[in-house]
Amino acid sequence: MATGELAGSRVLLPPPSSSLFVVVVFLLLAAVARDACALTRSDFPEGFAFGAGTSAFQVEGAAAEDGRKPSIWDTFTHQGDSPEGSTADVSADQYHHYKEDVKLMYDMGLDAYRFSISWPRLVPDGRGEINPKGLEYYNNLINELILHGIQPHVTIYHFDLPQVLQDEYGGILSSRFIEDYTAYAEVCFKNFGDRVKHWVTVNEPNIEPIGGYDNGSQPPRRCSYPFGTNCTGGDSSTEPYIVAHHLLLAHASAVSLYRQKYQAIQGGQIGLTLLGWWHEPRTDTPEDAAAAMRMNEFHIGWFMHPLVYGDYPPVMRHRVGSRLPSITASQSEKIRGSFDFIGINHYFVVRVQCDEGNGPKLRDYYVDAGVQNLGGEGFDKEHFQSLPWALGKLLDHLKLKYGNPPVIIHENGDGDSPETPSKIDYDDDFRSEFLQSYLQVLHMSIRNGSNARGYFVWSLLDVYEFLYGYNARFGLCGVDLTTAARTRYVRNSARWYSGFLRGGELRQPVTHPEKSYVAF
Ligand SMILES: *[C@@H]1O[C@H](CO)[C@@H](O)[C@H](O)[C@H]1NC(C)=O
Ligand SMILES: *[C@@H]1O[C@H](CO)[C@@H](O)[C@H](O)[C@H]1NC(C)=O
Ligand SMILES: *[C@@H]1O[C@H](CO)[C@@H](O)[C@H](O)[C@H]1NC(C)=O
Repeated sequence: MATGELAGSRVLLPPPSSSLFVVVVFLLLAAVARDACALTRSDFPEGFAFGAGTSAFQVEGAAAEDGRKPSIWDTFTHQGDSPEGSTADVSADQYHHYKEDVKLMYDMGLDAYRFSISWPRLVPDGRGEINPKGLEYYNNLINELILHGIQPHVTIYHFDLPQVLQDEYGGILSSRFIEDYTAYAEVCFKNFGDRVKHWVTVNEPNIEPIGGYDNGSQPPRRCSYPFGTNCTGGDSSTEPYIVAHHLLLAHASAVSLYRQKYQAIQGGQIGLTLLGWWHEPRTDTPEDAAAAMRMNEFHIGWFMHPLVYGDYPPVMRHRVGSRLPSITASQSEKIRGSFDFIGINHYFVVRVQCDEGNGPKLRDYYVDAGVQNLGGEGFDKEHFQSLPWALGKLLDHLKLKYGNPPVIIHENGDGDSPETPSKIDYDDDFRSEFLQSYLQVLHMSIRNGSNARGYFVWSLLDVYEFLYGYNARFGLCGVDLTTAARTRYVRNSARWYSGFLRGGELRQPVTHPEKSYVAF
């Protein structure tokens, strides 16, 4: 009975004089409450790396300096194909600000920095001569990081293919890409591998073929009717699969080289990083449920299935048929197991609708997958949503379907689109909230057996965004794009992240410090 419980509980009340007892009980309760809900970084596994990231084309600037030659993204942006005709010629100008940026990372308390090496800066002609200025720049950046105790996590290829290789033989569409890529990767291992212990061969090979070769909205702008517009060449039915195939073989080739010649001596780890959209059915019909599962196979399985099982997913073999390149027995052997970890860039849940079409029609990746292609609608909130539980589902999927590989979350973050992109704005509590809710899910997934080993916020700084130019800003730190000095400033989210990395609770009240350019 209620009264009996009340009477019973009254017995527990201490006599009024025993204030010490009250204090002890209070402290115990406080400790229990804290343990139950307040996460700190020590709740993450030993050695778990927290960092932030950028990529070379997006952050470096100095596009035509010190011997760097154009990439396909320079060509694209210079043709005015980017939002508002923006280019990354200067961007955040990290090429000239790397020391300051490493200091920001150090002050923030980052364990690691994820960046990429610009192929056209290091090997401007795509193969052959190394550019001494490029070599010097990356040595300087890596040394500065090491000096500050920050691990370099280095992506070898992040979309910025040397234009010369595009012109010479069609870039990734040609299998000659594999040889040139492998030679370039070796330049990286040989020159930086004594200090770089985390290598990513290729960034997002599961989306580059779509933007570049299916709808053609991104360089090198290849597509065919009716899947894209304004392309001067291409075949959306076949080229995306060929390009993905060459990226997969190039990855496997670089890993095989690293393992044979460098890994034992240098002691690093190597993997590749996939875009990790998570597909959910748009309605509760069985058709949409099946479509969402297929789309996860086409998106994640396209690379994970060969990496773990040695061939493309059966559903892709079945639906794409002879347009899906075959993997020979010796290639399969090289591909299978060619990773020490998988990087995941996670932003969205995509709501998928089944679309099996009527009768025969021209086919592309989305027709093959039997889903309605939402790409053209942009990232509208109805179909592309940021929902933290989706990261948990994705990690669970990797655990159950692909043998629970070590995973590093290489990108996760939230952007805003101010009316004036150059507006200086410190208040980004939406971003701190966003990151906190994802870290909470990540922690739950780890407790539930996921093999996650690291988490990188996208992005360290405001940079040129591949999809949005400067109309979306993702930076923990802002960059004043109105001045040639490209002054950095510390946003509230950077202060929040720093507090967490220094041992504070995950869910801290966001502080509102005095506005100033001074770091921390
Ligand atoms: C295609 O080109 C036309 C004419 O230049 C332009 O108006 C249109 O916006 C372009 N479409 C896309 C999707 O780029
Ligand atoms: C083309 O595909 C890319 C990658 O999925 C996507 O970001 C973009 O919105 C798509 N564009 C069009 C016009 O469909
Ligand atoms: C925990 O893992 C199991 C098995 O992988 C899965 O069925 C379950 O949904 C997971 N729970 C959470 C909360 O992620």
